[in-house]
Amino acid sequence: MKKVMAVFGTRPEAIKICPLVKEMKSRQSLEVVVCVTAQHRQMLDQVLRTFDVVPDYDLNIMKDRQTLFDITANIILAIKEVLEAEKPDVVLVHGDTSTAFVTALACFYLRIPVGHVEAGLRTYDIYSPFPEEFNREAVSIISQYHFAPTPLARQNLLNEGKKAESIFVTGNTVIDAMRHTVRPDYHHPELDWVGDHRLIFITAHRRENIGLPMRHMFRAIRRVLEEHPDCRAVYPIHMNPEVRLAADEELGDCDRIHIIEPIEVFDCHNFEARSYLCLTDSGGIQEECPSFGVPVIVMRDTTERPEGVEAGTLKLAGTDEETIYRTFKLLLEDENEYNRMSHACNPYGDGHACKRIADILEFGTYEPWGMTP
Ligand code: UD1
Ligand code: UDP
Repeated sequence: MKKVMAVFGTRPEAIKICPLVKEMKSRQSLEVVVCVTAQHRQMLDQVLRTFDVVPDYDLNIMKDRQTLFDITANIILAIKEVLEAEKPDVVLVHGDTSTAFVTALACFYLRIPVGHVEAGLRTYDIYSPFPEEFNREAVSIISQYHFAPTPLARQNLLNEGKKAESIFVTGNTVIDAMRHTVRPDYHHPELDWVGDHRLIFITAHRRENIGLPMRHMFRAIRRVLEEHPDCRAVYPIHMNPEVRLAADEELGDCDRIHIIEPIEVFDCHNFEARSYLCLTDSGGIQEECPSFGVPVIVMRDTTERPEGVEAGTLKLAGTDEETIYRTFKLLLEDENEYNRMSHACNPYGDGHACKRIADILEFGTYEPWGMTP
């Protein structure tokens, strides 16, 4: 029996790792232990409820307005105790959060093998996204198993000297989750409010955008919405108080936008599927919207998800107000431009990533995804 411990703490990690926890729990020869850091509290619990995953350990570290120092310091000693008590054969971490980095570091100190889910994403600018690019590069140094979502992510790892036999191309587990969430008969009161208008879906939270860049993003969105009465925007807002303050001040009195509390992932995918256009700085949403053929304006200077840019569904607009304003307006007014971006594609997976990762852990073999023979 191999003991696998999954450690995660934020909403996106939970969305992407809970389906894997379920898959692993269905395997005869894997014993699964779940530890949450609760780097996020309410937004994590929302996902745990959705997937019906009950953690074995909850480090409960979240503090309001926590700094990177708080998160790092509060996880490292608490996770040490759990790792020493459980002595797992392998620890799975996900992506690029501080939870992933600090847990991998603790495993390194205790010489416990690490499996990195969503490995190999890169911008090669450690300040963008901040601190995520550093986190994922550091996790890659420590990891024994690199579960790369795409062939490009694999290539990044090969270029960095990681051994080919330690890299597995699995697809992204978020695409697995989407197989069960999107329903044709889906209803929501906010969608009733949108009615026949074009739905613009908005999210924003990146640490490096907080402050003026985020205000510029919001001002650009507001200007375009005010010029387009046929559009209505829904913005499920992140719980970060800095984000809430900026959104309230810049968008609070705009009657074409509804700022709502974080929605369940089931709702989020259905909102995305019905959107005309999405504006975001989120990583996960860049992976989800291409499946629906929904164009995404990425309000960031860099992306570690160039597959979607290459496929044509993502456009990198940066955080400059005029650039976002022009890009957003063009996509609403120029049908050819819109149609060029709007086509369904799945550059991030086929919905079977969890099975592949569980196969590798259980049997040591798997069928790679997206690799030309
Ligand atoms: C974190 C991750 C980021 C990921 C994002 C997903 C790091 C350094 N950053 O950023 O990579 O994209 O999660 O959303 O790991 N808060 C609550 N309740 C919650 C969640 C957050 O109140 O359920 C508030 C708290 O005041 C908290 C703040 O939001 O201090 C920021 O949370 P934090 O985890 O530090 O950073 P995120 O911006 O969420
Ligand atoms: N999401 C959600 N509810 C919301 C907003 C987003 O369930 O109100 C989901 C979304 O579908 C995606 C993930 O959260 O799967 C993205 O998380 P976030 O933007 O917080 O983090 P990132 O992906 O940027 O790390």
